Amino acid sequence: MLIHTSKSGFVHPLASEITPQAVWNERRQWMGQAATLSAGSVLAAGLPGLAGAAESLPDKITPFKDATGYNNFYEFGTDKADPARNAHSLVTHPWRVKVDGLVKKPIEFALEDLQKLAPQEERVYRLRCVEGWSMVLPWQGYSLAELIRRVEPLGSAKYVEFQSLADPKTMPYVGSRLLDWPYVEGLRLDEAMHPLTLLTFGMYGQPLANQNGAPVRLVVPWKYGFKSTKSLVRIRFTDHQPATAWNKAAPDEYGFYSNVNPEVDHPRWSQATERRLGEGGLLTKKRKTLMFNGYAEQVASLYAGMDLRRNF
Ligand code: MTE
Repeated sequence: MLIHTSKSGFVHPLASEITPQAVWNERRQWMGQAATLSAGSVLAAGLPGLAGAAESLPDKITPFKDATGYNNFYEFGTDKADPARNAHSLVTHPWRVKVDGLVKKPIEFALEDLQKLAPQEERVYRLRCVEGWSMVLPWQGYSLAELIRRVEPLGSAKYVEFQSLADPKTMPYVGSRLLDWPYVEGLRLDEAMHPLTLLTFGMYGQPLANQNGAPVRLVVPWKYGFKSTKSLVRIRFTDHQPATAWNKAAPDEYGFYSNVNPEVDHPRWSQATERRLGEGGLLTKKRKTLMFNGYAEQVASLYAGMDLRRNF
């Protein structure tokens, strides 16, 4: 099994060590958990003290084929099938991630060293896309806070900027006018430090698929999916709110915070409900979207006193 929570951390497995999807599913069934595990209880296993995501319907793990076949990764195209079709051209070895800006100890990591920085664990998170679909995935990684603590942010650091690779040679849509490349996202420092914010290297017991943001991405489960930056190459600490790709492209539609909020509609559609990938077709009854995507108990205090309609 791929997930090591020992001191050695998670290391890229040999092909022979990768758990095939079917075997992984069987293991989960054997554990009596595969089909109807509530996200809260999975979270409780991964994050002691952070249990209790509010959820009325039980969550099921999204089938692997849906999680890897229906994606947003605009560097590889705009159709949901484009990333699966095109992202084979992404070169993930060698890979380096620079961590710099307002920190005492800036550093550039080789991927292998970043993977070993802290013990990795499996976390089952819901991810809700701003477009109204969602999924539930077993991700592997460690809390971004582990990395942040090691680089020692200066007192002036208030925000963290996340930058994706932008390589026109391997990413066919980089250079198009779709977005201002590279894809950039940002978090407030306290959001980045929150234990739910996961620096992610794997999914379903395997390294991340290219279309899901290999070899390292962010997963921020209480925010709309576009905050979860894929194929990270730089993490930069700043004293000002970073200008983010979607906010620059459409400031009225995509705010900086982008917390999942069923009460604040997107200007062009409602955010009250969502379609869970793998749960039937377009006619299947939708699920109710939950405040902070069901993680309110863990994260609502980060926004105490803020007007979440204005700070969308
Ligand atoms: N990161 C990069 N670099 N480029 C992208 O287009 N799309 C975002 C986010 N991260 C995106 C990205 C959006 S809109 C979503 S919903 C999630 O990735 C989708 O993640 P998934 O394909 O693993 O479901």
